[in-house]
Amino acid sequence: MLKINSLEQYQSEYKRSVENPELFWEGIAESFEWKKKWDKVLDWNFDEPNVKWFDGGQLNITENCLDRHLDSIGDKVAFHWVPNDVSEKGRKISYRELHAEVCKFSNVLTRNGIKKGDRVCLYMPMVPELVIAVLACARVGAIHSVVFAGFSAQSLSDRINDCNCNLVITADGAFRGAKTIDLKSIVDESLLTCTSVKKVIVLERTKTEASMLAGRDVWWHDEMLNTSPNHQAETMNSEDSLFILYTSGSTGKPKGVVHSTAGYMIYAEYSFRNVFQYQADDIFWCTADIGWITGHSYIIYGPLLAGATSIMFEGVPTYPDAGRFWDIVDKYQVNLFYTAPTAIRALQAKGLEYIKPYKLDTLKVLGTVGEPINEEAWHWYNDEIGKGKCPIVDTWWQTETGGILISPLAGITPLKPTYATLPLPGIQPCLVDSEGNEILGNDVSGNLCVKYPWPSMIRTTYGDHERCRQVYFSTYKGKYFTGDGCKRDEDGYYRITGRVDDVINVSGHRIGTAEVEDAINTTDKVIESAVVGFPHPIKGQGIFAFVISSSSDNENYIEEIRAQVTKVIGPIAKPDRILLVDGLPKTRSGKIMRRILRKIASGEFSKMGDTSTLLDPAVVEHICDVYSQEK
Ligand code: PRX
Repeated sequence: MLKINSLEQYQSEYKRSVENPELFWEGIAESFEWKKKWDKVLDWNFDEPNVKWFDGGQLNITENCLDRHLDSIGDKVAFHWVPNDVSEKGRKISYRELHAEVCKFSNVLTRNGIKKGDRVCLYMPMVPELVIAVLACARVGAIHSVVFAGFSAQSLSDRINDCNCNLVITADGAFRGAKTIDLKSIVDESLLTCTSVKKVIVLERTKTEASMLAGRDVWWHDEMLNTSPNHQAETMNSEDSLFILYTSGSTGKPKGVVHSTAGYMIYAEYSFRNVFQYQADDIFWCTADIGWITGHSYIIYGPLLAGATSIMFEGVPTYPDAGRFWDIVDKYQVNLFYTAPTAIRALQAKGLEYIKPYKLDTLKVLGTVGEPINEEAWHWYNDEIGKGKCPIVDTWWQTETGGILISPLAGITPLKPTYATLPLPGIQPCLVDSEGNEILGNDVSGNLCVKYPWPSMIRTTYGDHERCRQVYFSTYKGKYFTGDGCKRDEDGYYRITGRVDDVINVSGHRIGTAEVEDAINTTDKVIESAVVGFPHPIKGQGIFAFVISSSSDNENYIEEIRAQVTKVIGPIAKPDRILLVDGLPKTRSGKIMRRILRKIASGEFSKMGDTSTLLDPAVVEHICDVYSQEK
C-alpha cells in the first residue's frame, strides 16, 4: 500500500496520479487480497453516470479486513470498546475474536434466510455487535443499510421501505449519556408499515422490556448459541454493492447513496493510512457514530483494512462530564484522534477545567470532519488538545465520496487554519462558475466539483439512478458536483465555505430544508413553512423555521411543531427557532426568496438586496418586526 512520507513524495505521487490514474490505482489495488484479479481498472462516463473500478475482479472485503490479518496480527486488539457508563467494564476484541464473531453471525444471517444481494437494515447502539453485524452482512454479500439510532420510527420505515429490507438488526435499547432509548419499540412502530421485513434480530443491551413477535423477532444471543465460527466468505464482484447509506438532499426524501465493494475498500484503507499517517501500533479513535459515513469508513473499514487498533465509544462527549473524551484519550493512550467541529466547540464552551486533569501526551494527530471549522475552534483544538504539537487534518469529504478527498496529510502538508488544504493523490477537484466553466488559476472561488472518477465514489442512488444523475452529474456536464462552495487561495489551497444548495449542515449532519418543511407541514393547522439555516455557536448551523398557521395558541403551538418534526424525522431536525408569521417573501411566480429569510434568520436586516420582484415587499418588514419582538 502506497504510503506517502514527504511533501516531495506527495507532489510526485499527485502528478503521477493525474498523468496515469489507472496505473496509480492499480498499484494500490495490488496490496489487497483478491479471489480473482480484475480485467479492467476503470470504465467510466459521467453522463449516465456509469463508473466501474476493477471490473471483473472478485473478492470479499471482510477477508481483507479480517482473514488476511489472522496469521500476522490475529491477537492484536481490533477494538477497545468503551461503554457509555463509566462504571461499566469495557471490552477488548482481537482480530481473531472479531473474525470468529463475524463468521458466527454470518452463519446466523444465512440461517435466517439472508442471501447475497438482500438488504439488511441495522438500527443499533454503538456496541461491538454493530461492527460484527455490518461485517457479517458484507461477508454473506448482503447490502447493509445502517440507520442512525437517533432517527424516528417514520424515518426508519421510510429507509427500510425504500430499499425493501428483508431483515432488521436492532437492540432492546441504547444508552446515550443519561438517556436510554427504547430502540426495539421504535422498530416495532416502524415495522407497522414495512411489509418486506420478515425477521428482526434483537441484541440485549439495556435490558429494557422488549416485546418479541413470535415468528418474526429473535434474540441475538439465542441465535449465536451453538453456531459455528467457521464461514466461507461469499465471492463478490468488484462492482457489487457493499452498502447503502441514506443522506438528505435539497429536495424530497433522503436518498440511498450506494457504494461498491472493491473501489470503496481500496480508498478506505489508502485514505486512512495517508491522511492520519497511521503507523503500526498507533491507537486510533474516530468519535463518529457508525450511523454516518465517517463511522463506516473510519471506524469500521479503513482501520480494520489497515490492521489498526481503534477505540469504539458508545456514549457522548459530555457524559458524565465534558472531560470524557480526554479521560478516554489518556486511559487508552490514543495517538490519532478524529472528531467533529461541533464537538470541539461544545467542549470549548464548557471551559478548560475539564481538560486540566489530563495529560493528552500520547496524541500525535488531530482530525476534524463534517463542516467548516471556525478559526477560534481550530486554535483551541490546536493549543489546548494538541498542545501545539499535533498537526490538525481538516478532512473534507461526503457520504457520496466514500472517503476523505481533500485534506492535509498529517505532518507532511503545511497547514493553514480552516483550510482542508490539498487533494489526495488520485483526486482531481475543480472549481466552476455558474455557467459550468472551470475556473483556472489560484485566488479564486466557485462551486466545487470533481472532474475525474475515484474508486470510492457513489455509484447510484438506490432504486433511482436518474436521481443520482440529476443531483450530482447534471448541473455541470462531465463533472461530479459536490453541492459545496469553495475557495482556492493563492497557494492552491482549498477552503470549503459551505453548502450552496438548500441543505443545512447541523452539527456536521446534512438536513434538507425541504425535508424539514415537509415534516412541519404535517402539523395540524400549519398553512405553509419555510426553513433556512442560521449561524449557531455550537452546531455550526441551526434550523430556523418561518411558519404560517391558523393556530391562535402561539406558545404551545411552537412546541407542537417541534414535537412533530422530532416524530417525523428525529431530534436532530428539530428547529432551533420557529417564528410564526403572516406571510413569506415570495416572487410573483410563487417561489420563496430564501436569501431574504436567511438574512433575517441571522439577524441581518440591512442590505436585503433587490426585493422588487417580491409579490408583496411589505411582508419583509412584517417578518423583521416579528423577529425583533420575539428576540
Ligand atoms: O458541506 C460539506 C460538509 O459536509 C458535507 C457532507 O456531509 P455528509 O455527507 O453528511 O458527510 C459528513 C462527513 C464526511 C459536505 O458537502 N463537510 C464535510 N467535511 C467538511 C465539510 N465542510 C467543510 N470542511 C470539512 N472538512
